[in-house]
Amino acid sequence: MSESARTHTRQRDDASGATTPAVPGTASFDRLGLPDGILRVLREQGVTVPFPIQAAALPHALAGRDVLGRGRTGSGKTLAFGLGMLARTAGRRAQPKEPLTLVLVPTRELAQQVGEALTPYAEALRLRLATVVGGVSVGRQAAVLRDGAEVVVATPGRLHDLVERRSCRLGRVRIVVLDEADQMCDMGFLPQVTEILDQVRPDGQRMLFSATLDHDVDQLVRDYLRDPAVHSVDPSSGAVSAVDHHVLVVHGPDRYAVTTEIAARDGRVVLFLDTKHGVDQLTRHLRAAGVAAAALHSGKSQPQRTRTLAQFKEGQVTALVATNVAARGLHVDDLDLVVNVDPATDPKDYLHRAGRTARAGRSGTVVTLVLSGQRRETSQVLADAGVTPKVAKVRSGEAELTRITGAKAPSGNPLDGGPVAPRPKNHNAPFRGLGSTKAAQGGSAGRPSRRTTEARKLAEAQRAARVRRGG
Ligand SMILES: Nc1ncnc2c1ncn2[C@@H]1O[C@H](COP(=O)(O)OP(=O)(O)OP(=O)(O)O)[C@@H](O)[C@H]1O
Ligand SMILES: [Mg+2]
Repeated sequence: MSESARTHTRQRDDASGATTPAVPGTASFDRLGLPDGILRVLREQGVTVPFPIQAAALPHALAGRDVLGRGRTGSGKTLAFGLGMLARTAGRRAQPKEPLTLVLVPTRELAQQVGEALTPYAEALRLRLATVVGGVSVGRQAAVLRDGAEVVVATPGRLHDLVERRSCRLGRVRIVVLDEADQMCDMGFLPQVTEILDQVRPDGQRMLFSATLDHDVDQLVRDYLRDPAVHSVDPSSGAVSAVDHHVLVVHGPDRYAVTTEIAARDGRVVLFLDTKHGVDQLTRHLRAAGVAAAALHSGKSQPQRTRTLAQFKEGQVTALVATNVAARGLHVDDLDLVVNVDPATDPKDYLHRAGRTARAGRSGTVVTLVLSGQRRETSQVLADAGVTPKVAKVRSGEAELTRITGAKAPSGNPLDGGPVAPRPKNHNAPFRGLGSTKAAQGGSAGRPSRRTTEARKLAEAQRAARVRRGG
């Protein structure tokens, strides 16, 4: 995808001729013709000035036009489509099982987040909003739909199930939004998405939004959108001044130690890995080293996933270790560091992972750890993402690592009563890391830690003393 996606993105900009430049920050929500209830909630939420994608897309969304909206991660796309669709649904009443407005998103967490973000505005307009996702009771969701919900925020799979069960009919849906639209066009989602689009009112409004709205959506645009208003108000590339991108070259055996020190920083961090297994393994390691880490991936139960994200937002968990399931759309306040423990292999994945920080005008740092053999491939991925990183070789315990990431020595006191992680020998010396995975986990390949050795010596001494006493 990489290079072609970037080229296509540029072509869309060039070809459409309809891209809207960023609107100066003087635009006001009052002048957009939004209902009073929405304006009141905006004031209550402290949202005073529309962000560029909102100022650009809302007039068309409110006029009922189809919209293709691209704005960088954290630029306020949720309200850009959300306020328009809620305002256009206000005053209508859904029949049981027959929603009027639909938002489709790729992950359960994002559905929950979008539902929560839009609920105050929906309530102000007396609209009933239901969130419909997999992994939790389908019966309860069917009951909510039976009571009637004007607005449904859903993951495609669960909505499909509800339609199959005849708990939901889509024939009266007159507004459909696809958030993260390019991902919704992936093979995994597209069949269900098109099946849903085939059931909604053919004369309805459709809006597609993403930070990376590229030619992956072309088929859908051709088949389902009419003369869309195209808004591309920020570059989708990562070349945004508020973000510091770093590539840190590490030695293989030092990789876990570097990761652990970063995770032990004061403040939140999201660490991305490619596989569920890798996520679980690192999470165990971090907790054994005393870092309040938790794992988020599709192999966890939905209650676990929900709890983990809530604990991360509240601060009981400081290091969220995740697969790409957390890469799209999720917003956590005061998250200023994202770490690719496994480098992203796709430029769009890189941009979305990176986009969990530096949101809503804040700054942030994105760090990618690479082994020297991965440097060339990673450079290409970042170049395709439009990112020029600073590159440095680092070792665990080094001041440079701390300067960039806030890395520090973990407490070494295991959470969960797990095995004690090895600690540095000389407490006055700079922390030199935890060594390789196996060593840190007490695996057979690792040398026994100082503590384990001491514990064994102590046990031997006590046994010897008991023998001497004749016990
Ligand atoms: N006009 C505004 N003024 C201040 N804050 C805003 C405004 N609009 C949105 N926000 C805040 O900005 C944050 C990011 O918004 P949002 O999640 O909609 O971004 P996004 O563009 O959808 O990002 P992503 O591409 O990662 O999904 C949210 O916390 C939201 O409340
Ligand atoms: Mg979003």
